Amino acid sequence: MTDKIKIAIAGYGNVTSTLVKGLEFYKNSVEGLWHPKIGGLTLNDITIVAIFDIDAAKVGKKIGDLHTDYKTSFSEVRIQPGLMLDPAPSHISKNGQIKSATYQEFVKSLAAVKADFLVNVISSGLDKTSEKYSEAALDAGCSFVNATSAKTITDKTRKTYESKGLMILGDDLMSQFGGTAFHRGMIDFMTKRGIKVQKAYQLDVGGNQDTMNTMAEEIRERKRNIKTESIAIESPYSFRSTAGTTEYAEQLGDSRVSYYWMEAKGFLGSTIEMDLALKTSDSTNGCNVIVDVLRAAKTSLVKKDLGRTDIISAYAFKNPTKKMHIRECIKSFEDIFAN
Ligand SMILES: NC(=O)c1ccc[n+]([C@@H]2O[C@H](COP(=O)([O-])OP(=O)(O)OC[C@H]3O[C@@H](n4cnc5c(N)ncnc54)[C@H](O)[C@@H]3O)[C@@H](O)[C@H]2O)c1
Repeated sequence: MTDKIKIAIAGYGNVTSTLVKGLEFYKNSVEGLWHPKIGGLTLNDITIVAIFDIDAAKVGKKIGDLHTDYKTSFSEVRIQPGLMLDPAPSHISKNGQIKSATYQEFVKSLAAVKADFLVNVISSGLDKTSEKYSEAALDAGCSFVNATSAKTITDKTRKTYESKGLMILGDDLMSQFGGTAFHRGMIDFMTKRGIKVQKAYQLDVGGNQDTMNTMAEEIRERKRNIKTESIAIESPYSFRSTAGTTEYAEQLGDSRVSYYWMEAKGFLGSTIEMDLALKTSDSTNGCNVIVDVLRAAKTSLVKKDLGRTDIISAYAFKNPTKKMHIRECIKSFEDIFAN
């Protein structure tokens, strides 16, 4: 038995508010959970001890003040000011204000709640801030989970974390059944069935705040590179492939539509062409993976088996420390943790 998994979260947006709802809902249900138990732990074993944001409209409010339509055991958690080292994301620069803390104040607040993990789910494109959060987690004595596309894990950061008996996991969350995971699954299936993929693309359209923030060209390009490289792992040969967030369409809300097109060759060079669309909900799609990461990492920390970082990151993130085939990392993850 382990103690509760205590998490602090940076960023109270779509993903975090969905996670809060999920932790409440899964107190009494397992419907829709990918893994009801990981390392013997359920979602009842996860508790939120702190939330940080820099949107002045959220800082200082309790979760219960922001969601008057539902109550959870985390309704009394008050949002504290986080760090900010980048220009404000578009939703704040257009209509809001920033309220942030100094590095020392933040580390003190984080250390005070004795969190096992700081989960970084801040807006896309705030790379300096994400890196600073990874330093701050270390200084506060907690492990770090990076859902954003910022590059926070290097050999150096990993070694520093491990020297303190902590883990750093990431980068860039891979949704349970989102554009990238589905694309990788299709390429894996085609190559395993002896089909030669020639060309492919995946064009993503979304309507939430994060998609809007991703529209900045440098962020879009980086995300495109991460997704394209992540998909390339599945094939033993290279082919022309493009994958990325293509457009923001407000009317989609928290949904995302991924349009896929693939051309492949079979026996006698016969052509196989695929053209399809996948519609999913972004924030719910990420939460099953986050709760798996937290439980797997906690059991690894308790057992002082920090070498499992590679498997957890390959299973849950698009840009992990060690790249593995999607089938292989799910199998390795489940062999160790899903009991
Ligand atoms: N399935 C998924 O939803 C998924 C998958 C992969 C990656 N991600 C990543 O997770 C992150 C969160 O996604 P989201 O949909 O919740 O985004 P969101 O835009 O809804 O929420 C982000 C929140 O972070 C806050 N924030 C911005 N800067 C901050 C800072 N310096 N400190 C603390 N808080 C800050 C914003 O005010 C906002 O409340 C994004 O980077 C996204 O790319 C999500």
